[in-house]
Amino acid sequence: MTLPKHVAIIMDGNGRWAQLKHRPRSFGHVKGTRVAKKIITACSRRGIKHLTLYAFSTENWFRPQTEVSLLMRILQRYLRRETENLVKENIRFSVIGDLSRLPKDVLKSIEGAMATTAQCTGLHLVFALSYGSRQEITNAVRDIAEKIANGEISAHEVDEEMINSSLSTYPTPDPDLIIRTSGEQRLSNFLLWQAAYSEFYFTDVLWPNFTETHLEEALTAYSQRQRRFGKVAHDSVEKLSN
Ligand code: IPE
Ligand code: IPE
Ligand code: MG
Repeated sequence: MTLPKHVAIIMDGNGRWAQLKHRPRSFGHVKGTRVAKKIITACSRRGIKHLTLYAFSTENWFRPQTEVSLLMRILQRYLRRETENLVKENIRFSVIGDLSRLPKDVLKSIEGAMATTAQCTGLHLVFALSYGSRQEITNAVRDIAEKIANGEISAHEVDEEMINSSLSTYPTPDPDLIIRTSGEQRLSNFLLWQAAYSEFYFTDVLWPNFTETHLEEALTAYSQRQRRFGKVAHDSVEKLSN
């Protein structure tokens, strides 16, 4: 089975899951975090190289203050409790997103988790936090524009590779497979540039109900896709010439 090197997941549906159970949205976020832990371990054990989890978008800052604070507290608790486990599982942790907007204690825990797991050589786990792809691309354009203004480079030298290496995901390879739960079929400002040739897998399962079996289904679906990258499939080249 062809395994994707990089899996990215838009973990969606926590609120609706809680609502169905007549519980507050926070209940869904707590359960969602537990599911994330399981899926991280599952990906690690399967030998996936990179896993990016969309945990909080730039637009999520516009949710009610109480929900935002709660999400930050859950994140803080996750980092505090899980860092040792990440080391045990040989998982290297990193983040993408506008960290300047995060509370100081969360930022500190992030830095701690990154430092503690820096030497781990197994799964590379990326949390997209306070992340927005348009913001990321805007920052990259600004950085490149500054280099041109300083005379460091000329406008003609700007190419895809330069843009790529100016993004916060660099040097992580593009996601091969993007999974979104909860039935929504959109990117919601996630990895717009990087998703140019990603395979998409949408499932109606709400994130708190997502299990290792669902992950397996997504990976199997991926292995059955034929990625062409705009070219002609290998086995149809001959047919064309006949
Ligand atoms: C995903 O679940 C978690 C975050 C965006 C932080 P939601 O909170 O978006 O759940 P729904 O989409 O409202 O059900
Ligand atoms: C996307 O989910 C962000 C995360 C999963 C963290 P949202 O629930 O914020 O996206 P929309 O609002 O349905 O597009
Ligand atoms: Mg949602």
